[in-house]
Amino acid sequence: MLQRSLDPLSRPFDDELDALLSRFKRGRAVEVDFRELVGNSSASDRFTHRFHPYPAKLLLNIPLFFLNCSQLMQPGATVYDPFCGSGTVLVEGLVRGAVVQGADSNPLARLITSAKTTLLSEEVVDAGLDFIWSNLPRRKSSPPEGSVNLERWFGDKALSQLSRLGRALEAMPEGPAERFFKACYSAVVFRVSLTDPTVPVPVRINARKTSLTSQQRKMRRLWLLERSAADVFACFELLVEENFERLKRLAEQCSEPRVSLFDDARTALGEDCVDLIITSPPYGSAQKYIRASSLSLQWLGLARSGLRDLERRSIGREHFNSSERSEIDVPVPSAKALLAKIGKVNPLRQHIAGSFLLEMRDALSRSCRRLRPDGHLVMIVGNNTVCGYVFDTQRYLTEICQELGLDLTLRLEDRIRSRGLITKRHNTAGLISKETILLFKKRCQNV
Ligand SMILES: C[S@@+](CC[C@H](N)C(=O)[O-])C[C@H]1O[C@@H](n2cnc3c(N)ncnc32)[C@H](O)[C@@H]1O
Repeated sequence: MLQRSLDPLSRPFDDELDALLSRFKRGRAVEVDFRELVGNSSASDRFTHRFHPYPAKLLLNIPLFFLNCSQLMQPGATVYDPFCGSGTVLVEGLVRGAVVQGADSNPLARLITSAKTTLLSEEVVDAGLDFIWSNLPRRKSSPPEGSVNLERWFGDKALSQLSRLGRALEAMPEGPAERFFKACYSAVVFRVSLTDPTVPVPVRINARKTSLTSQQRKMRRLWLLERSAADVFACFELLVEENFERLKRLAEQCSEPRVSLFDDARTALGEDCVDLIITSPPYGSAQKYIRASSLSLQWLGLARSGLRDLERRSIGREHFNSSERSEIDVPVPSAKALLAKIGKVNPLRQHIAGSFLLEMRDALSRSCRRLRPDGHLVMIVGNNTVCGYVFDTQRYLTEICQELGLDLTLRLEDRIRSRGLITKRHNTAGLISKETILLFKKRCQNV
């Protein structure tokens, strides 16, 4: 009892879920505002959610709502997010007393999630900091193997300090402390780079852009000044302190987190049965997670085989060589006509969208196999446009899930205020203005 009272947002949401279920008529989504339904979470620095930025982060209210419905899960249940990103679902799962599992093909996502869900003692953090400062090289080292053009994105002082700090971190023995410090280091990379913080993928801050208001230009000049002069070491110490405070708040709520992480939703097996899956899959035609993480991935030496190689492992990727483009047997009948139309305008976009559906089917099939009969899947999906056509992702993924033996029991729509990963840089990828929240239940007899 004492533990639950530490969390002002958690309370049972069974009545609200029952009301939504009874309003749902098949084919007609129910409009909902999860900010209102759950309460204002964005105002609070809740547990470890603000440990590190990540593109297209899930609004934490959504998993929090479903995790607090006793029809869907009880404390001690196993909750899985096959596209866990920075671990929003896993953190909320731990707060609710679940055993949590996640998968993500982006190594930076796994690093952040691991750091956000692993508790550390004060002694370990202090010893880690001593290790880092005593192993700090005196001079700037060469940038990590496989990195390209890092000079373009950082001032001289930041370049030198990041390379020295990176070397000290490389020398740390592998383990929870090493992951914690590396995730803090990555957060520093985001803070001191000369990239525009309003754009999710790296784009240099441009204070002269004529389309900006004078206030916006002033803001950009300020960012450039601050970031060019930033002290990486001071910033790192500050973030270590802040993030350790966040971990301490999580420790007050859950003393022994049980977390497993896998590196691909299509191959993640795990031994135990899953009671509840909550996930927000990648977008069908706007996948830029690797590009958005590219500076950290390079500084951390996680991109030694090249960023393209990492991108190749992710679903919804943007690039395909001509040799990779073969005929796709799209597993969604209702998408075929649209894909043919897209193909007439842009065969590459057709291939990207078709591969997305094929790969999502693999990932969902693997995930659903792990779900226990009568277990639930909550999927948060944004629709988008491809070559000017509406790509009805939620409909296609619903068809895939139904074919995999799941019944749709609820469809909700929530308006998105922050678009996270979506940039309007070319008109083939449209903006996402609402997200659909789908609730499925696994049939007892799998088909
Ligand atoms: C919408 S984001 C998830 C964001 C997450 N809910 C959060 O709050 O941070 C989708 C994620 O799917 C991941 N992804 C793409 N392909 C994948 C694959 N084959 N297996 C697992 N994860 C994958 C991307 O790296 C990205 O982190």
